[in-house]
Amino acid sequence: MALLKILRYPDERLHRVAAKVPEVTDEIRTLVHNMAETMYAAPGIGLAATQVDVHQRVIVIDVSDSHDQLQVLINPEITSSSGVSDSEEGCLSVPEVFAKIRRADYVLVKALNIHGDQYVLEANGLLAVCIQHEMDHLIGKVFVEYLSQLKQTRILGKIKKQQRNIM
Ligand code: NI
Repeated sequence: MALLKILRYPDERLHRVAAKVPEVTDEIRTLVHNMAETMYAAPGIGLAATQVDVHQRVIVIDVSDSHDQLQVLINPEITSSSGVSDSEEGCLSVPEVFAKIRRADYVLVKALNIHGDQYVLEANGLLAVCIQHEMDHLIGKVFVEYLSQLKQTRILGKIKKQQRNIM
């Protein structure tokens, strides 16, 4: 197991579109384990492979308080969605930035599990929001890109300031 380096916005690699996983191999299972470890250590509630510079359709999520409800979604596809949820989101690739984003409140997702078997996941509330946020990463979209240009400019300013403080 290993902790992976998480890309920070506005790194261009966060805009790459992930490819479908052709087969769930041991290499993918190792990636999933390392992603889960990285997410728990951060700590965060979701991580997409794109964020660790692996451009394949793999997501890990755990929205439980007990951190023992790991969900692995390989090649996820939303087959239906409904309702509206406006909730505050954050992202491990955009530290210390939070913003209210509008999403569906319910999603039905089809994905492969770690054994390569297809399953269906019904989600609402926080889990539904998290799935949509992570699936956006797989198509190269970061949540702040839903905000107005003015807000995005402010966020980029804040990030530049954070980076100056680190150096
Ligand atoms: Ni994120």
